[in-house]
Amino acid sequence: MSSVDSQQRVLSGMRPTGKLHLGHYHGVLKNWVKLQHEFECFFFVADWHALTTNYDDPSMIESSVWDMVIDWLAAGVNPGSATLFIQSRVPEHAELNLLLSMITPLGWLERVPTYKDQQEKLREKDLATYGFLGYPLLQSADILVYRAGRVPVGADQVSHVEITREIARRFNHLYGREPGFEEQAEAAIVKMGKKNAKLYRNLKKRYQEGGDMEALETARALLKEQQNISMGDSERLYGYIEGGGKIILPEPQALLTPDSKMPGLDGHKMSKSYGNTIGLREEPDTVAQKIRTMQTDPQRVRRTDPGEPEKCPVWGLHKVYSDNDTQEWVQKGCRSAGIGCLDCKKPVIDAIVEEQRPLHERAREYEGNPDLVRSIIDEGCEQARDAARDTLEEVRAAMGLRYR
Ligand code: TRP
Ligand code: SF4
Repeated sequence: MSSVDSQQRVLSGMRPTGKLHLGHYHGVLKNWVKLQHEFECFFFVADWHALTTNYDDPSMIESSVWDMVIDWLAAGVNPGSATLFIQSRVPEHAELNLLLSMITPLGWLERVPTYKDQQEKLREKDLATYGFLGYPLLQSADILVYRAGRVPVGADQVSHVEITREIARRFNHLYGREPGFEEQAEAAIVKMGKKNAKLYRNLKKRYQEGGDMEALETARALLKEQQNISMGDSERLYGYIEGGGKIILPEPQALLTPDSKMPGLDGHKMSKSYGNTIGLREEPDTVAQKIRTMQTDPQRVRRTDPGEPEKCPVWGLHKVYSDNDTQEWVQKGCRSAGIGCLDCKKPVIDAIVEEQRPLHERAREYEGNPDLVRSIIDEGCEQARDAARDTLEEVRAAMGLRYR
């Protein structure tokens, strides 16, 4: 924890495996845009993670990296508010990955559900590799190298945050115990002054004996206010509340990304693997053409046949984009054959094009200026490295690698 306020730190990454679509926008990216105003955010391109499954065709990773960064910027992720960087440009991720690999039992990795699931799903690929087994550990290193307390992820990634917590706990347990820890912690308590010391002891007791989470929070807040104690003592006292040694790597929490309700062109969830996407920066003409050629209620063959919105994927888009009046107009018009399907699609096309207008506007500045994008990433990589270096110094020291 030291000088880092983990609870304020958010970290998340995305693998560069193609252009982003509106599903990403409505799910992950709008959430990032919101978080960047509330927390200290680090968002990165997980290119090494993409390599674990695409090692046979790395060229697609390269072309996706810059497109993806522009997609983020287009969506409103702001390099003034968040740090944007590329994983492979911060080698500390790899160093921490290696150090943590020493203490990670194989069984933990083999039991992560995504390991077997993805191997099944991507049968055409040989994923019996060391790198693929290590995927969740690399992700743990991504998170822990910034001591990020909050990790926005989809439901499919929660198990990776969970193993990160276990690895952090194991690390702290193994390396957070110095000789004389308890004595030093007790001495540090005294340095806070009588009143605060009493309060701290009381809160620690309430947490340890009664599992009182509020007491834990209050004790942490109390420590944050202390001016009289050193960073080392502060770390000890953070750890001491929970009974253990120093907390060198704090356990992160998953911040579950609100599920995107964005349906794709076929009515199923929008996803690259279903081929039913609208690109985040799709041109208006293409948007119109994609919607116009969408399948509608199969029973509605002729214009005069009444239809049923519930059987039509276009209705799913109205649910996202249309107000009550328009929705009612669709329901009535469809069931009475009062409107044609092209009439019905028009407001959806308009709404999507309208939604994308500011995204195109923001993107334009970057599309014509690759140097600008590079400089944003250069700066982000530097900032990220500074934060990552600090952690590694502490990690090396704790592991007895001070002699290097
Ligand atoms: N595994 C994540 C995904 O596929 C991407 C990722 C890599 C990530 N490292 C991370 C997400 C660290 C959050 C934190 O979506
Ligand atoms: Fe679908 Fe609209 Fe046509 Fe009804 S009128 S079938 S809801 S596109």
